[in-house]
Amino acid sequence: MPFPTYRTRRLRESPALRRLVQETHLTPSELILPLFIVPGHGIRQEIASLPGQYHLSVDQAVTEAKAVVDHGIPAVLLFGLPESKDPLGREAYSPTGAVQQAVHAIKQAVPALVVITDVCLCEYTDHGHCGVVDGERIVNDLTLELLQRTALSHVEAGADMVAPSDMMDGRVGAIRACLDDKGYYQIPIMAYAAKYASSFYGPFREAVQSTPQFGDRRSYQMDPANAREAVREVQLDIAEGADIVMVKPALPYLDVIARVRQSTDLPLAAYNVSGEYAMIKAAARLGWLDEERAMLEALTSIKRAGADIIITYFAKEAVRLLERGAAW
Ligand code: PBG
Repeated sequence: MPFPTYRTRRLRESPALRRLVQETHLTPSELILPLFIVPGHGIRQEIASLPGQYHLSVDQAVTEAKAVVDHGIPAVLLFGLPESKDPLGREAYSPTGAVQQAVHAIKQAVPALVVITDVCLCEYTDHGHCGVVDGERIVNDLTLELLQRTALSHVEAGADMVAPSDMMDGRVGAIRACLDDKGYYQIPIMAYAAKYASSFYGPFREAVQSTPQFGDRRSYQMDPANAREAVREVQLDIAEGADIVMVKPALPYLDVIARVRQSTDLPLAAYNVSGEYAMIKAAARLGWLDEERAMLEALTSIKRAGADIIITYFAKEAVRLLERGAAW
């Protein structure tokens, strides 16, 4: 029934009609806001590379957590900065680290909020790599024990879920075994399953000073050219015990999100990373993009591709826009 019998424009005539046939809906309940925790007190310092995002000391993180809940956002993802960095990233698994303290304080003050922690060493190592280093090599199996200790320290502090982002082989299974062994069999793991060696992490690395001091992350993070491999990574993480799988970054990898969606019934998260956020912020600042519309369009595209959960620095702003009934 081609034109003139059929006209696609009939259903685009009014805002109400467009709403009626809208296929993808964004809601606050599928968003996760990342937070950056720093040592100290009374600190709420804007991050230069991530305008609108802050380095927060534990007390300020609690205030922010209350605001997150007030927005109807169910979860936060905590990253931490240490007092000092060393080759083995010791503060990552210190019971008195900034993240461990923040987990405890947030769960006390806002128990309804789901507190997820990023499990990785790169914010804590002086060389900036996500694992133990031997010469120029990142040693897989020695790293697993440190990741287990890190995850366990988060859970002992009260974390509701852990999210390993290091991309070492076998880390999901190692963390699962460690948590089960300590009786934490009910704590889910959100695995950064298909995590690419991406330039879009630039603003994040500036925020936590985790740029590798030598080499790059290509021996452990995925090659941006590969999509079949993403499905394999996801299947392996599921076999090791992942409860939620993630594709990261999101926007340059919408095809990967769609592909992974086809391959598993597990909840699928996508990480709208720092570079994706910073590009929209920067272009908007220059007057080259309408920030609000670009944000909603980008987030909706991630959902349309198949993500159930979106981790995004835009979470609070997006909720405010949705409540206003804004659209693209
Ligand atoms: C740690 C980690 C990174 C991000 C999340 N966890 C950086 C990296 O892998 O270099 C990036 C998040 C973002 O860019 O928003 N491994």
